[in-house]
Amino acid sequence: MTTQSKGYQTGFGNEFASEALPGALPVGQNSPQRCAYGLYNEQLSGTAFTAPRHANRRSWLYRIRPAAMHGPFSAFAGAPQLHGRFDGGPVPPDQLRWDPLPWPEAPRDFLEGLFTMAGCGGPEAGSGIAVHLYAATRDMDGRYFYDADAELLLVPQEGRLVVATELGVLELAPGQIGVVPRGVRFAVRLPDGRARGYVCENFGALLKLPDLGPIGSNGLANPRDFETPVAAFEDREGAFELVAKFQGALWRADIGHSPLDVVAWHGNYAPYRYDLARFNTIGSISFDHPDPSIFLVLHSPSDTPGTSNMDFVIFPPRWLVAQHTFRPPWFHRNVASEFMGLVHGAYDAKAEGFVPGGSSLHNGMIGHGPDAETFERASRADLSQPDVIRDTMAFMFESRHVLRPTAQALQAPWRQRGYQACWAGLRKHFPG
Ligand SMILES: [Fe+2]
Repeated sequence: MTTQSKGYQTGFGNEFASEALPGALPVGQNSPQRCAYGLYNEQLSGTAFTAPRHANRRSWLYRIRPAAMHGPFSAFAGAPQLHGRFDGGPVPPDQLRWDPLPWPEAPRDFLEGLFTMAGCGGPEAGSGIAVHLYAATRDMDGRYFYDADAELLLVPQEGRLVVATELGVLELAPGQIGVVPRGVRFAVRLPDGRARGYVCENFGALLKLPDLGPIGSNGLANPRDFETPVAAFEDREGAFELVAKFQGALWRADIGHSPLDVVAWHGNYAPYRYDLARFNTIGSISFDHPDPSIFLVLHSPSDTPGTSNMDFVIFPPRWLVAQHTFRPPWFHRNVASEFMGLVHGAYDAKAEGFVPGGSSLHNGMIGHGPDAETFERASRADLSQPDVIRDTMAFMFESRHVLRPTAQALQAPWRQRGYQACWAGLRKHFPG
C-alpha cells in the first residue's frame, strides 16, 4: 500500500501538521499509549532539545515501524566519489573552473552519481560545508539514504528529481531548490530518466531566511513561497538497503521494509522546496550595484554575527539600470570563498567558458571578476538604456571557510586548466 498524496504546505519553518490517513495524528498530545492504526510514534530532533524556541526544530512522526529497525551497518562502497576528506594536500590559490560533470557510462542512481568537489569542516566541527555534483541515470530502487552529517541543499540543473522522503514527496525541477534535513531518509527517482545538478552539504547551523534590515518586511525570498510536502507513506516490504553517511563515511544496512512509512507527522523539521523564479530581486536604481549579499536566498549563520557558515546566493533574471556604473559584477577579492554554478543561460560576468552545469571556485582572497571580453564590452556600454538579463540563473555557495578542492576535482579531465586565460586579454589602459 502506498499513498499517492502529493501536495504542499506553505511557509518557512512553520509548525506543520499532515496526515495521509484520517485520524492518524493524535490530538492534544504527542505520544499516546496507543497510536491510531497501530502506528509507532517517534520524535526527530534537528536541534538541541533546549534550543531557543525561535530556533528549535523537531517533528513528531507516526510510522508503521520505528527507525531503529534495520540490520547492522557495514562499509558501503557503491559511491566512491562521495566522501568527506578535505584535509589532505595543498590548496592551490588558483581560480578554478570546470565543465559539467560528464554523464556516467554505466547506470548510476543519485547516490552513486555524487561527486565531491570541495569542502571544509565537517560534522565533528559542526561547521563548514561540502559541495558535490551529481549525474544520475536511474532511480534509487530499493535503496534509501540519509545523511547524519548535514542537511542537504539540492540544486537541480538538468532533469527533474522526485525526492521521496519520510515526511512526503518533494518534486524538484531545474529552477527550484530543495532541502532535505539532516537525518531524514529518502530515495531519489528520475522522471526524466536522468538528472544532473549540485548539492551543498551544510554541516553548520540550519539554513534560514536572512534578516532584511532596511529592505523592510518583504523582499528577497518570501516565506510564503516555501513549500513543505504533505505526509505520504509506503507500506512496502522486501530486501532493501539503507545507506547512511555518518562522520564522512558511507555505511549500508539491510532493511526489510521501506523506511518511508510515516503515515502522519507534525512539527517544524521537514523538507522543503522553493522556486527561484519567486525571488524578489533587489538592486540599484541609481549608481553602482550593491554587494552580492543583496541576492541572498538562504543562509547558515555562524557564531560570528553577519559572517555565514554558508550563504546560498542567486543571480537571477533582472534589469540593470545603474548609471555611471560598470554594470557586471566587478573585480574583487573576498574573505569568503565562492563556489559558483549555473542552472541555465549565461552569467553576466563571463562571455564564455562558464556553461550550465559547470562550476567555478574562487577561494579566499583569490582575485577574480569579469573576463576580458565582458570588461571591454561593459566599459563602453550605452548606459542611457537599461540592460535586461532574461535567461540566467547562476548561484553561489559562499562560505567564510576556505573550500578545499578534492584531489578528484583537481585531477578531473573536465577541469578547465586554462581558465586563467580569460583574464589574460585585459589590456593596460593606463594612463588613460
Ligand atoms: Fe566573486
